[in-house]
Amino acid sequence: MSIISDKQNKNKKIDINAKNPIVKPETNEGDKSFENSIRPKTFDAYIGQGALKETLKITIAAAKKREQPLDHLLFYGPPGLGKTTLAGVIAGQMGVEIKITSAPALERPRDIIGILMSLKGGEILFIDEIHRLNKVAEEILYPAMEDFYLDMTTGKAQTVKTLRLPLPKFTLIGATTKAGALSGPLRDRFGIIHRLQFYTDEELSKVVTRTAGILNIEIDKDGALEIASRSRGTPRIANRLVKRVADFALVKSDGKIGREIAKAALDTLKIDECGLDMTDRGLLKLIAEKFNGGPVGIETLAAALGEDVKTLEDVCEPYLLQAGLLQRTPRGRMITPYALEHLGLKKRVTSAQQSFFD
Ligand code: ADE
Repeated sequence: MSIISDKQNKNKKIDINAKNPIVKPETNEGDKSFENSIRPKTFDAYIGQGALKETLKITIAAAKKREQPLDHLLFYGPPGLGKTTLAGVIAGQMGVEIKITSAPALERPRDIIGILMSLKGGEILFIDEIHRLNKVAEEILYPAMEDFYLDMTTGKAQTVKTLRLPLPKFTLIGATTKAGALSGPLRDRFGIIHRLQFYTDEELSKVVTRTAGILNIEIDKDGALEIASRSRGTPRIANRLVKRVADFALVKSDGKIGREIAKAALDTLKIDECGLDMTDRGLLKLIAEKFNGGPVGIETLAAALGEDVKTLEDVCEPYLLQAGLLQRTPRGRMITPYALEHLGLKKRVTSAQQSFFD
């Protein structure tokens, strides 16, 4: 597996990790070598995404039988769910090399042309954050994906010549957290499109146990489940929490992770039973206490919290929405009864029929 460029991190606008690295699913520099060292390499070792794995196994077996490369694949879904890992597993199953890059690293035409020309037959090109690909790079990709050639132009004005360069048959695996932001023509060129789901607590506790095993950390079932249940359905977060809880267990106890030590560690980190951190709770409390439970516009919330809208939308909201703690309506965000219960707030109705919370 080769990772082509790290330029994307320089270009990243959202960096909530700088504030709170623990329960936000975006990758950060510290995660990368750790993640690479614990990545499962086979479908058997890859936990969760059961239905998707079964479909992929059939797709791979069929491609192998036909002795053809896989169709181009698009994975979408929230960050941290294992899109890159899954692409690596697929490459392993196909017995081919994978080249990993990300759309912000493909700024100039020569970036994408260089990578395409470096591919060998059957190899996989993985482009993360593919919704951020610029128009020129997209235009270069279309014929490459469809008919495996590159159109290169040389000369200027009247003397311009187009050179058609054949490429080896390759598979593009694109990954995005925003399938809706992908242009129609690009989306249409993927033969297979799959959504990755949040993980259940049981699946995440298996991820936690596996990671602890690799790191030589002793953990029991209850300890693993405690970490899993506060990991927002996201393996990247679960894996980070394993390390933080292990530090706590080593310093405060005998290094072994059971339920009590996991609870104590996560409480100290201010990560609650739902996996919410202070920013999430701040957002929910703001809606409840200052905006009467909502609906309230995201811009208003962002201004009140001193966050930017994209951070709230891309980093905080996906999990709050899926966990049933927040609702998105045409008139703005609303807190749910479940969130009120979780925060220990009660709905109070005044004589003027105005409801607010205490
Ligand atoms: N680490 C991150 N994602 C994983 C997964 N799906 N299975 C096992 N380990 C993982």
